[in-house]
Amino acid sequence: MCGIVALVGSREASTILVEGLRKLEYRGYDSAGLATVSTHKGSKKGFITCKKAEGKLVNLLNLIATDGAPGHIGIGHTRWATHGKPDVKNAHPHVDTLSQVAVVQNGIIENHTVLRDNLQKQGIQFCSETDTEVIPHLISEALIRLQEEGVTAKEEMLFLAVRETLDLLQGSYALAVIWAETPDVLIVAKNKAPLVIGFAQGEFLCASDTSAFAGFTRTILPLEDRELALLTPLGVEIYDSLGKRQHRTPSLIVGSEKDVEKGQFRHFMLKEIYEQSETADQWIRRFLPNGLSPSSPIALSFEDSFYESIEAIQILACGTSRHAAMVGAHLLEQFAGIPSTVFFASEFRYAPPPLAPNVLTIGVTQSGETADTLAALIMESERRSSLKNNLFSSRQLGITNRIESSLARQVSNIIDIGAGLEVGVAATKTFLGQLLTFYGLAIMFAAKKKRRSSKEINEICCQLRLVPNQLRDLIKTHNKLTEKLAHQFVNTKDVIFLGRGINYPIALEAALKLKEISYIHAEGFPAGEMKHGPIALLDYKVPVISIATQGVVFEKVLSNAQEAKARDACLIGIAPESSETEIFDHLLPIPKVSEWISPLLTVIPLQLLSYHIAAHRGLDVDQPRNLAKSVTVE
Ligand code: F6R
Repeated sequence: MCGIVALVGSREASTILVEGLRKLEYRGYDSAGLATVSTHKGSKKGFITCKKAEGKLVNLLNLIATDGAPGHIGIGHTRWATHGKPDVKNAHPHVDTLSQVAVVQNGIIENHTVLRDNLQKQGIQFCSETDTEVIPHLISEALIRLQEEGVTAKEEMLFLAVRETLDLLQGSYALAVIWAETPDVLIVAKNKAPLVIGFAQGEFLCASDTSAFAGFTRTILPLEDRELALLTPLGVEIYDSLGKRQHRTPSLIVGSEKDVEKGQFRHFMLKEIYEQSETADQWIRRFLPNGLSPSSPIALSFEDSFYESIEAIQILACGTSRHAAMVGAHLLEQFAGIPSTVFFASEFRYAPPPLAPNVLTIGVTQSGETADTLAALIMESERRSSLKNNLFSSRQLGITNRIESSLARQVSNIIDIGAGLEVGVAATKTFLGQLLTFYGLAIMFAAKKKRRSSKEINEICCQLRLVPNQLRDLIKTHNKLTEKLAHQFVNTKDVIFLGRGINYPIALEAALKLKEISYIHAEGFPAGEMKHGPIALLDYKVPVISIATQGVVFEKVLSNAQEAKARDACLIGIAPESSETEIFDHLLPIPKVSEWISPLLTVIPLQLLSYHIAAHRGLDVDQPRNLAKSVTVE
């Protein structure tokens, strides 16, 4: 989490840094800060101006508007607190004792306590509770030592001091450093946290994510782990951790970064819910165009051997992505007949299952930067490679919405869900894109492994083609219905969501959405599980929202809903309109579709209901408290 941005060039840095931070605010928004270096007229020696503000970026913007922050070089940060409260003293940049060195960092320095103790023993006083603050102090110490050793070239001194400091750090970091004595030099480095350099004419920007480059440049170069780069107005030099110069060619950002304005919508989340029909439309165009052969019904470019050799699938993901993975695993097992298991990525790393042969590991992360998911994939790849047995070799596939992300660079096979930039912290259209991708995979596995007839495959493909229009109608209707209904639940304390089979993960996802943006306690249960304990929670104050779609468990879900109604719960149904669904106090109707397809539709009224409840409560829907869009710490 946290977003960092750094610039060296010829224009006033603070304006560009703030603009970059605005695009990175989704990574954390509890405080923000920036530091610049400038020189007094006629002097070569510079001075650092450091400005920090608690809360949203707008507070920093106001501060800079009054105080200013001169200089053509600078570093900026938007924070998601890990060490220390979100206040001004813990906001980045952090500086050394004499405010000569300033640092912004994203990640966690795991050995910061030991480093801090050592520095304190030498008499250094700390101003913050952060892990980051050790870094400027260590760099400053190294600079003094290098000077004593006779190094005189300032640029070289800073480079060596940063390199020495990096050797002392354990954990993950993406960082940027400036020094008052080198008003033209910016040093950046990374390990297990993303950092990308952007190239423009005589200006170089560095950021956690390419979204910060919109309107600045499309030419980029991602840094690799343990690399550091020296940026001056004359160019960029990249070095490995041993100080060996690296030569790589920058590339162009794929796709467009156009969709970052709210337009007519009050919140990005609502806009992104509306965009789901477009997400589905695009997906159909790319993966399900007309004219594909029955033996390859989805336009995925993997060789036949990829599908044929796989006997089981394990999927690693977190949060909403994990819910999409659960629907995916249901499809892969029940439609394509491939044993599939979903793991919390954060748990998998420390308790993986025994190794089995011919397993495909899928990592699902919309941001492509989730530290838990990336680390779990690396761990799985390492333990498989150590066996040196082809049957157990590591086959990995990534599913992401950010094709230029760390995930895309880490795995050999990648699917871009192509949902377009999602700004709202609560994932909506990327969830739909992930779901669709799993439909594509399940259909391909079923076809390649001949687990389903051509007729069955053709049927599900035809149903998928109808989804974009169904979504369009559904979103329009349900926006009105849920807005009205939401008023009733503004002061509700607990909500229970029920689903079964392929819609159980949708119940989980609905509960997560409601929790995230409305701060109302919500749980999702498989409907049949209520009687084994959770039913004790029910009374007239706890609404029960039940997903009841046509299929094998339809009647069962209705009976489970009846049981809730008998406990005075207010009952809301997500179901096709029929005499059977009259049991619901409120019905949010969905079209009659096959059970396979239903999650793509049932999720819509649930997203909208959460949205409207949160909006009626007057909450910051797009940037809910304590959350960030990209979770780059473990
Ligand atoms: C929920 C949400 C989070 C993310 C989770 C994983 O709305 O956004 O639960 O789904 O942090 O993020 P990614 O998909 O980027 O790995």
